[in-house]
Amino acid sequence: MDDRWTLVYEGFDAAEEGLREALCTLGNGYFATRGAAPESAADGVHYPGTYAAGCYDRLTTEIGGHRADNADLVNLPDWLPLTFRAAGGDRFDIDEAAHRGDLLEYRQELDLHRGVLTRLFRWRDGGRTFRVAQRRIVSMADPHLAALETTIVPENWTGTLEVRSAVDGRVVNAGVARYRGLRGDHLVCDPPHPHDEADPDVVTATTRSSRIGIAIAARTRVSCPSTSSTRVEGDRVVRTVRVDAREGVPVTIEKVAAVFTSRDRALEDHGEAARGHVTLAPGFDGLLEAHTQAWARLWRRCRLSVDDTEVQRILNLHVFHLLQTVSEHTVDLDVGVPARGLHGEAYRGHVFWDELFILPFLSTRFPEIARALLLYRWRRLPAARRNAAAAGHKGALYPWQSAADGREETQTLHLNPRSGRWLPDHSHLQRHAGLAVAHNAWRFYESTGDLEFLAEYGAEMMLEVARFFADIASYDRSRDRYDIRGVMGPDEYHDGYPDRDEPGVDNNAYTNILAAWVLRRALDALALLPENRRTELREGLALTHTETARFEDVATKLRVPFHGGVISQFEGYGNLGELDWDRYRARYGDIRRLDRILEAEGDTPNRYKASKQADVLMLFYLLAPHEFDDVLLQLGYDRDPGLPERTIDYYLTRTCDGSTLSMLVRAWILARTDGDLGWRAFLDALRSDIGDSQHGTTAEGVHLGAMAGTVDLVQRCFAGISTRGETLQLSPRLPPALTRLHVGLRYRGHWGIDLSLRPDRLHVALRPGGARPITIVYGTEEIVVEPGGSWETPLAEGRPPEASGHPRARTSATGQPA
Ligand code: BGC
Repeated sequence: MDDRWTLVYEGFDAAEEGLREALCTLGNGYFATRGAAPESAADGVHYPGTYAAGCYDRLTTEIGGHRADNADLVNLPDWLPLTFRAAGGDRFDIDEAAHRGDLLEYRQELDLHRGVLTRLFRWRDGGRTFRVAQRRIVSMADPHLAALETTIVPENWTGTLEVRSAVDGRVVNAGVARYRGLRGDHLVCDPPHPHDEADPDVVTATTRSSRIGIAIAARTRVSCPSTSSTRVEGDRVVRTVRVDAREGVPVTIEKVAAVFTSRDRALEDHGEAARGHVTLAPGFDGLLEAHTQAWARLWRRCRLSVDDTEVQRILNLHVFHLLQTVSEHTVDLDVGVPARGLHGEAYRGHVFWDELFILPFLSTRFPEIARALLLYRWRRLPAARRNAAAAGHKGALYPWQSAADGREETQTLHLNPRSGRWLPDHSHLQRHAGLAVAHNAWRFYESTGDLEFLAEYGAEMMLEVARFFADIASYDRSRDRYDIRGVMGPDEYHDGYPDRDEPGVDNNAYTNILAAWVLRRALDALALLPENRRTELREGLALTHTETARFEDVATKLRVPFHGGVISQFEGYGNLGELDWDRYRARYGDIRRLDRILEAEGDTPNRYKASKQADVLMLFYLLAPHEFDDVLLQLGYDRDPGLPERTIDYYLTRTCDGSTLSMLVRAWILARTDGDLGWRAFLDALRSDIGDSQHGTTAEGVHLGAMAGTVDLVQRCFAGISTRGETLQLSPRLPPALTRLHVGLRYRGHWGIDLSLRPDRLHVALRPGGARPITIVYGTEEIVVEPGGSWETPLAEGRPPEASGHPRARTSATGQPA
């Protein structure tokens, strides 16, 4: 067994089961199923959940006199249920078995390379001992299929073995405790028909308000002669199979399930499709072979290795979960990437700005997936225009939380579990969500050179977002500056001023600086388009030269607040009180949800210089140092060489990383400045899910932004690869803890750039076959590498030796075999 590719849990631990279920989720970008025990129904320990990408439903609940309207990623009928017993004995149930001390051995293994979840256990029921091996896949080769294979060996008995397998439509969305006061009964099942035993067991349902048809069909087969009968119990179909089992002889039960919805293409009726598909599906071994091959193909496109087994294992786990959430099967589905994957119900499967952390990795490995995620946003441009118009503005206002149709999905109330109070939620004021969309569109273009994308979709989104920000900026004649008032930055601890009734803060520096950057990039994008498309787009958007002149004006005059020699998170931040961090840490230990602690005390984080997450710091994550300098100069602020360092120090000590995204940004920033501290922060970010560092949140779904972001950090920060303009820029910083790093990626139509890093050298090779040479910028040098060529340079302790300061020299690395 290769430790870099396996996640192993020894023994059963009820307290950890939710976490394991999330981390052992199997999926294929079309649907995913949590790694739940097939014999257990949802209770306080287990939560089987199956979710199809883009399958949302909206329900309204009355809470405390308010109507709460929530769109959820729907928990689908459960295809997993399967248990067994010896005739006359108890049915296998993991909790009972563990409780009674009858679970003799138990091991759970996730094979990340092949995408197989295996459970191996021995169970004693009375005097009878069962040895069980259970393997599960959600096919990466056929997005509609999943399979569960259970092999039971009666170790010391002979008799009738009875297996019960079901498809269960009696499910609701109840995976997150603090949402349980809200309705979750999204499915209306069709009464299942009693059917012929030879036919598959099928449950069909329709979601209540979105009216999506769902069909789950299961086929159960046994390796030896058996009898079988089916029963319909309400919205559940139960099949009972009986086998004459003999001591020492394995019995294999194979359950194959098909999942279809009415959103699927190329079908007439989803119920019929599920039934037909499962009937014709190959057996477990055939499915496994195709599935393993599909994964092998994906891994070939994700080459990234380091010489630290544990780090490598977690990086593999992160790529694995990313590709289970979005894959080539997602490309045609018109879906965004849910912040918590298809792994649980936290944030209701909504799509946030977290794409910012996810798209860079996808753009260099699976540009077609990144593009599809951007098209999800483009198709919701009309909705974003309506959001803007409803707020009294021009352009596009992308929602803070997005689901099916792109309307604002952010809840208006949220529960503080610590105080038990439902509180107003103003996070829809995070207007910066649209800046992330525009930023992603531009970075995607930079990384892929996909001008067609820019011309057809990207530029339009960027211009409409720019238009919104140019419009919400109000001009202050006395200072010749523009202000953006009443917004929230990324830091969710500050949704207003302690002494002001209306929510929102003024001139959030992250929003203003990124808006200035986006306004300029939107104009750059327009300028890049062929003239006829440029004219067409201007006409289509009724974008006049007066308006683009306004873009330019706002881009140079947005206000950035400062205090005490640092950038202020927003205007007035400098006047807030300092939090007594030591007191709170001593009293509460983990203070990452300081907002909940303070609210329960009758206080509010709005009074303090304390941030939930990176806010100003985000600028140093998103913008390269020269881009940051340029945008401040563009805004008319004098160059102040110590500003980034002072600002970074100031906020790193006042940010408590209440979001895993923030841990990642901290790691990113420190990696550029302090190798050891940066490495420790990287390990913290890396372990946020596998180590459940937020104590319970991973069970509700993985943190996909942090997962993808840590992998991206290795390639963009440690290997130092960035794409700017027409060049590939390299500025490696191998952390002292590593002595080898290898990255293989795609760039602008090249299928293979291999970059190897050791403390003493950097080697770049370009596979033969790409159309054009690539230009690498390395310090002051510019190197042209031809397809099939390579280039190498010495490093000192994993970094470029001190920059020579000479003007940029252009060399060529042609013809050397890679
Ligand atoms: C963070 C947001 C993030 C969301 C979804 C929240 O806790 O504050 O920045 O977008 O989680 O991951």
